Order: sequence, then C-alpha cells, then structure tokens
Amino acid sequence: MKSSRIPAFYRLTVEERRQKLAAALGLSPDDRAVLEAADALPLDVADIMVENAVGTFALPFGVGLNFVVNARDVVIPMVVEEPSVIAAASNAARMVREGGGFVADADPPVMTAQIEVMGVVDAAAGRARVEAAREELLAMAHAALPRLAERGGGAQELEVRVDPHCPDRLIIHVHIDCRDAMGANMVNTVAEALSEKVARLAGGRSGLRILTNLCDRRCVRVSARVPPAALASEGQDGAAVRDGIVAASRFAEDDPYRAATHNKGIMNGVDAVVIATGNDWRGVEAGAHAFACVSGRYRPLATWRNEGGDLAGQLEMPMAVGTVGGTLHAHAGARLAQRILGVTDAKTLATIIASAGLASNLAALRALATDGIQRGHMALHRRSLGPSEGPRPPAMGSAEPSSPAPTRSSLREGDRP
Ligand code: MEV
Repeated sequence: MKSSRIPAFYRLTVEERRQKLAAALGLSPDDRAVLEAADALPLDVADIMVENAVGTFALPFGVGLNFVVNARDVVIPMVVEEPSVIAAASNAARMVREGGGFVADADPPVMTAQIEVMGVVDAAAGRARVEAAREELLAMAHAALPRLAERGGGAQELEVRVDPHCPDRLIIHVHIDCRDAMGANMVNTVAEALSEKVARLAGGRSGLRILTNLCDRRCVRVSARVPPAALASEGQDGAAVRDGIVAASRFAEDDPYRAATHNKGIMNGVDAVVIATGNDWRGVEAGAHAFACVSGRYRPLATWRNEGGDLAGQLEMPMAVGTVGGTLHAHAGARLAQRILGVTDAKTLATIIASAGLASNLAALRALATDGIQRGHMALHRRSLGPSEGPRPPAMGSAEPSSPAPTRSSLREGDRP
C-alpha cells in the first residue's frame, strides 16, 4: 500500500471506509465480502472451534491508521470493545510518523516446552544423565515434529534446572523454533513425547509437560522517536508534553501499581491486534505480565526518555503469535486481518503488534500528562452509546453511568485520529 495515512477516515460512513480501505489496500471482492458479512464466523464453524457452542459473539473490527513500521506503511486491524483505543493508537502513530515511524525487531520464533520430573533422588546425577542424552532427546523432539524440521524449525536446545524451591524436582526446558506458528500444539507435543524418557534418565517420575507462556526467547523490541512539535496541541507546549510523558514513565518505573495500569494501556493496542489476527491473547497477556516482573519487581514494559530534545520510547515484551495454524484456519476475519497487514511471517506480525502497543502507551501517557484521560475517552465512549435516543446502558468494561448519547457532530476534532 502507498500510505496508511487516510485523512478524515473517521468522518466517512462505514460503507465509505470500506471502499477507501479496499482501494488503498487492493482488497479483492472476496475480502470485501468478509468485511461485509454479518457472519464472518458462521455458526457451524464456531461449533467446530469450541464445545457447547450456542452462538457467536461479535466485536467491532476497526483499523489503526498512520502507522509506519520499519519504513513500511501499514494499516493495522484492531478488534476491541473499548472506545478510543483505535483513535488513540492512530493519533499516536501520526506523531511517531513525524519522527520516522516505529523501528522494531523480533527474536526468532522460539517457544519453550517445560518437562517436570518429580521425586528425583539425586538431582545432580539426574541432571548430568539428562544433559548427557541431549542429542538423543533433541532427535526425539525432531522426530515428533517432522514437518516443522522440513520448514527449517524444530528443537534447538535443551536445558536442565534443579528447582531451587524443591530439590527433588528437575525442570527440563526444550527450546523449539516454531517458524510462523504460535506453536503451542507443537511444543506440547514435544513435551509429551520426551517426558517419560526424561523422567527415566533423571531417576524420577514424570510430572507436568506443557509450554511456558513466559517465552522470553521470543521477544519483540520496538522504539519510537517523536519531535516535540508533534506532541504539541492547542495550549500545550510540545516540550512540556514530552517532559510530562517522561515523568509518567518514571512513575511507572518506580511504582508497581502504576506500572500495572501503564502496561494495561500497552495491552489495549497489543490485544486488539492479537485478537484481530486470530491469535491467543491470553498467552500473550500471560507472557507480558510474567516478563514485566522477571527482575523480581513488576516493571513497565515500555519506557520514555528525552533524547536530544525528542521524546524516545522503547518497548520490549514476549510475543508468541503466528501467521499459520490455530484460529486462522477457521476464521475468515482473522485471515482478512492478515491480508490487510500484508504479513505472512510471525516475526513481522510481532513487530506490528508491539508497535500498536507502544502507540497505545504513548497516547495514554500523553492524555494523562495533559488533559487527563476522561475528556477524549469519554467523548468517544459516549459515541458508542449510539444516536440520540435517550439513555443507553454503559458499554462493556465501562464504569460510566447511563447517559444521554451525543451525536457524531458533538465530538471535537481533537478527539479524532
Ligand atoms: C485505559 O484503558 C488505559 C489507561 O489506563 C492506560 C494508562 O493509564 O496508562 C489510560
């Protein structure tokens, strides 16, 4: 696509937005049909996906605009129930664009299987025997996933730890390159294939065998620079806004209660893209929060500094997402999201998701450091209550009481991306 910047997109009707998007991205008639279908997830597919299905549950599907990630313009599909998340991320992406866009890189797609062995009489000797069998065990892991090895992935490394809390427990980690899959099924297959053998070698009995969601070998890093002029708005000096954002970052670095909310703002953007692309957002959430406290203290995933006058931010977090397998097989909307992004590989997808997270964080901190969150948030939130036809129930996840709904024209320009 030429540009992810589509000015005044929000002013268009939904139909006009679809047309603009289809033209900008070159969407096929089939893609258009998925966008328009009321049943992007037909009931018979839902019935195969989960047990006891009695219906489907829809959420808004929007697009984050203005993003440049690694010098490529990208329109980012976002599925989220909370008003203002998409507008705020798009707004922040426009500021980051002024500084050259997001720069991101992702680790190889390595996930880790954990095999627990319990009741080990001599942990040091058990550990030595498992380590001595490393090559044989890795070969067994490859044999369990022959197609992954053909695609250049597979088990790479094996580590043995004696649990410091429980000296008769050994924990064996097998690190597996999952290529473009999220990899949970493959990793669990390896864990189960190896567990009996590992337990025999260790001289104990087999315990749990499952992936860890703290996939800290599969991290993504993204940075952004924003010139102060891009942070300024009516009555707000850009340098003062920058300093306010840096102070907000320091607050999160100092205080875990604030860090939790800071990270929630990041996950607003992250989860919206993870869900849109059919990935496991609970896994990404678990990894994010475990990673946030690996130092023993809960920390912000993203921090901001004044670098030579510019606001400079960086984010690092695990990102277990895939572009093949899982929900993608079943969900036409998730497949469309991937085509909108123009990605086919998991690493590029991870960089885009992390960029949406950093954008969401920037937008939240900018609002908090200036007007406060309620002004913009609630204007968009009220919009979600629909046309002016009296009080409506509050939107999901909102503490706002029922209130008369404003019209579209009552929104200020500044509330918009
Ligand atoms: C609300 O969904 C997210 C924020 O609370 C994030 C933050 O405080 O940084 C606004």
